[in-house]
Amino acid sequence: MSLRPERVLIDRATIQAKVAEMARAIEARHRHPEPLLVVSVLRGAVIFAADLMRELNLALSVEFVAVESYGSSTRSSGAVNITRDVTEDLDGRHVLLVEDIVDTGLTLRYLISHLKGKNPASLEVAVLLDKVARRQIEVKVDYTGFVIPDAFVVGYGLDYAGLYRNLPDVMVLGESAS
Ligand code: PRP
Repeated sequence: MSLRPERVLIDRATIQAKVAEMARAIEARHRHPEPLLVVSVLRGAVIFAADLMRELNLALSVEFVAVESYGSSTRSSGAVNITRDVTEDLDGRHVLLVEDIVDTGLTLRYLISHLKGKNPASLEVAVLLDKVARRQIEVKVDYTGFVIPDAFVVGYGLDYAGLYRNLPDVMVLGESAS
């Protein structure tokens, strides 16, 4: 038996509509003259961040931070480690941290605390998928796309063993006999 994408959980059109809705909410709250600094988490959030940025009618720049937490299994080890930090100075900047999914909350809690330590003027968090049933610690998410059940999902940036990030839909991984 091997694990493969089995069924569509959220199709591309529904994702696209939600990303546009999230962009409108972000625009409504960012009326200051300074550009927004989008910080996208590598690797899973890059597809969502790319679509969200193209929807945002705001002056913005983009930065990346890379973290390791899951390895190639379907369960979190709970350990979070920054493997690539932001390079720009965040002091006084308006930062939007963009994540594909919040599960236990450990990664976001760590990243929020890490970025807050760089003294931004504001720090908000946008997450496409929220697996709320798996939360181990409370984290503040300002913009949430979809609350999803506790299934292993791939596609739209999310992987299983490095694969399936390029699928345009969010799909549930299941067992197939081959
Ligand atoms: C995923 C996701 C978050 C994290 C969420 O990353 O992108 O960073 O897990 O899980 P948590 O709430 O339990 O901490 P992953 O480690 O799969 O790496 P990737 O982004 O490179 O796919």
